[in-house]
Amino acid sequence: MKRVAVFASGSGSNFESLVEASRQSNLGYEVVLLVTDRLDAYALERASRLNIPTKSFAPKAYATKGEYEIAILTILKQFKIDWIALAGYMRLVGSTLLEPYQQRIVNIHPSLLPHFPGKDAIGQALKAEVAQTGVTVHYIDEGIDTGPVISQEIVAVRPEDTYETLQKRIKQVEHHIYPKTLAKIMREDELNVSKTRVN
Ligand code: GRF
Repeated sequence: MKRVAVFASGSGSNFESLVEASRQSNLGYEVVLLVTDRLDAYALERASRLNIPTKSFAPKAYATKGEYEIAILTILKQFKIDWIALAGYMRLVGSTLLEPYQQRIVNIHPSLLPHFPGKDAIGQALKAEVAQTGVTVHYIDEGIDTGPVISQEIVAVRPEDTYETLQKRIKQVEHHIYPKTLAKIMREDELNVSKTRVN
């Protein structure tokens, strides 16, 4: 069973769905830690309800981004974290975390990347008047939403859509695609480990 830390800055509905899905069936991972960069993230309340340990780090309390990430890394080691799942974590991950967790950090983004990267992907899609947008789960690299895509699902944009209605349908897709994708990654991870053992 792989040990996952979820990183969030806000509401944490994806965090909650990752936890709930893994408790309902064996997906090969368990969420053992929530990390936030905000002391007031609503995700923290969800974690307390779900009985998941939390650690919050205020970036301003550290002189550099590197120091901030070293503090996080220390906790990740204590919790023996195998994988990191970003879920509304509003910060670029730096090399201090990227290097030790190479190809082991994933993110969910509310658009069909490479379309509409960065902030307010849903607003961007509405402004561009596209007929469809969607959800992407991808690996993280140094860029903003530029890492290799793992899975995507289309969400149609309806003429009558407001920000709220479109966001609601996107979140519904997110809440099933993220646990499903993580489960797929965990299976592949197991296969790779056993291949290494055989060779
Ligand atoms: C989601 O739309 C996710 O795709 C994006 O941030 C949002 C987080 O929502 N990266 P929540 O905090 O999980 O409800």
